[in-house]
Amino acid sequence: MEQPKTIIVTGGASGIGYAFCEHLGQLGHQIVIADLRGAEEAAARLRGSGTKAIGLKADVVDEEEMAAVVRAGEEEFGGVDGLINNAGLFTTLELKPFEQISSHEWMRVMEVNTLGPFICAKAALPALRRSSRGRVVNIASTVPMKGTANMAHYVASKGALIALTRSLARELARDSITVNAIAPGFTLSDGVLQTELQNRIGNNGRTAGRCIQRDQVPADLVGAIGFLVSDGAAFMTGQTMAVDGGGVFL
Ligand SMILES: NC(=O)c1ccc[n+]([C@@H]2O[C@H](COP(=O)([O-])OP(=O)(O)OC[C@H]3O[C@@H](n4cnc5c(N)ncnc54)[C@H](O)[C@@H]3O)[C@@H](O)[C@H]2O)c1
Repeated sequence: MEQPKTIIVTGGASGIGYAFCEHLGQLGHQIVIADLRGAEEAAARLRGSGTKAIGLKADVVDEEEMAAVVRAGEEEFGGVDGLINNAGLFTTLELKPFEQISSHEWMRVMEVNTLGPFICAKAALPALRRSSRGRVVNIASTVPMKGTANMAHYVASKGALIALTRSLARELARDSITVNAIAPGFTLSDGVLQTELQNRIGNNGRTAGRCIQRDQVPADLVGAIGFLVSDGAAFMTGQTMAVDGGGVFL
């Protein structure tokens, strides 16, 4: 059986991120949750079901807070082997034509969805190098492949994250760190349900064009994350894996 890894999950207190934490915990990995809210409570829930986990309040765009998250993981579990860049601005976005998106809204989405993963990867890098089987998984989306309307800032941010994935894969392979992305389709996460985005986005964004004609839920994504952090995925890097019921073919 493979040695467990210590894995930082940003935005891991709820939604897709929490589903990742639960699954990775069940596989025996140690979890470090970094989230703006609910991180410690979520980690306590994981510990209640037998997973070794800690949670810290942290903003992915704050270099000092993310450095503290990495330090906490190293102190608690003796190292950090993985980073899942899952935190992102999506479910709270107002859907609107691009000409109505202000420069401020554009920059805020770019900040959280692109600067955040960049800062987190930089913070984790020394620890990932020491691991010698480091894993970075960026949670992108299928929207850049589809060119989804009424969320141009979000679409551009996830396209940039896929590009960053490729660039980091080239730079970090020599350190035995793989960098991949998962592109989920529209998923009924906590945030989606709370903001009723499933009603705002309409069926066109929800299930249209999928081979598998049903709504996607966070549990549909966990197999991919378990694989990408595993030792068995050591020869796969720079890739974007679409997990969307067969909506796009990469
Ligand atoms: N739900 C979907 O349909 C869908 C589809 C494709 C991709 N995604 C991506 O998956 C990821 C998770 O989406 P979700 O639907 O579970 O979202 P969500 O809104 O349900 O959860 C996001 C989590 O991230 C945290 N977070 C937000 N900003 C943060 C910050 N600056 N620092 C730290 N934590 C922060 C939130 O507190 C929350 O716990 C996002 O990157 C999203 O873009 C979602």
